[in-house]
Amino acid sequence: MRTVLFTCAGQRVDIVTSFRRVGARTLAVDVNPLAPALYHADEHAFAPRVDDPGYVSALADLVAAHDVSLVVPLTDLDHGVLSRARDELGALVLLPSPEIVDALADKWLAHLLFVERGLGSPPTWLPGDVPADVEYPVLVKARHGFGSRNIFRCADARELEFFLGYTKVDSMVQACCRGEEFSIDVFCDLESRCLNAVPRTMIESKGGESIKGMTIRDAELVEVGRSVSETLGLVGPANIQCFREPDGTHRITDINPRFGGGFPLPTAAGSRYPELALALAAGERPEPRLGDFREKLYMTRFFSELVLAEDGDTLKPFAEELPEPVAEP
Ligand SMILES: Nc1ncnc2c1ncn2[C@@H]1O[C@H](COP(=O)(O)OP(=O)(O)O)[C@@H](O)[C@H]1O
Ligand SMILES: [Mg+2]
Repeated sequence: MRTVLFTCAGQRVDIVTSFRRVGARTLAVDVNPLAPALYHADEHAFAPRVDDPGYVSALADLVAAHDVSLVVPLTDLDHGVLSRARDELGALVLLPSPEIVDALADKWLAHLLFVERGLGSPPTWLPGDVPADVEYPVLVKARHGFGSRNIFRCADARELEFFLGYTKVDSMVQACCRGEEFSIDVFCDLESRCLNAVPRTMIESKGGESIKGMTIRDAELVEVGRSVSETLGLVGPANIQCFREPDGTHRITDINPRFGGGFPLPTAAGSRYPELALALAAGERPEPRLGDFREKLYMTRFFSELVLAEDGDTLKPFAEELPEPVAEP
């Protein structure tokens, strides 16, 4: 049985559970003892903060002690550190190269990269370079943003000036897309071959998290997922966000090189991404199955909770009121 180490496990109970279901031994790591995913793994451990100089060696010790064969980061926080430390960890790390990780973490660098590689990206400027005849609305958008934070819509030049002064973070200015927004969950092998791409609609999001959405077997979006992944050299899971403009072209606005927030939907649709990740860890070379998933599946999310009790100086699960399944998993 293969052991998978999840870093920054946080709330990603869905991902840890999916790997467990397909036969992995799971080891979840977080800095916070109240991270719920810790208690849904076979074993858990605590790590220093990502910015601590001992972070990588603490993970390497866990890899050795638990015979870990795969490291799966669950948030954006440690991608830069882990993509650089892949040779020190002693297990396969599902991340692209540090150059790509760094570019995707900065929306301005990401825009430059997309343009350089011929991928559609909305016109974007640094704050001092916005042309006088720019078409409104535009967005003032954080370069290192996440969870839809620090994005301001500006209807005219007066609002643009106001929000550039108001925002507290390093920002850029981006043309506002007018079409529909889609999210594509892809998974690539170690040679950056895209093994599958599952597009979904964004029916409703809260705080940047998709809470309602539907899988669609849209050949153009599957192709956007494949070409973006292979052009950038993605490795492992990624979530590609794009808009379909009124003229039918696609503009990429955000890529996260990790399992997307909407992970349960592609999983239910048959993506088999956890199995594919385990296959890569076993040195196998699975064949691409682009477009092989179930379409028109809707996801609608709700809150869940775990109650913990003190047990000496640790916490142990005390109660968890899971809903009765309404269907076979
Ligand atoms: N150029 C754009 N045009 C229209 N809406 C946008 C644009 N960029 C971002 N948004 C909206 O803001 C949300 C968050 O932006 P995104 O670039 O995904 O940043 P993050 O998810 O890292 O906060 C998107 O899901 C989308 O709804
Ligand atoms: Mg986003």
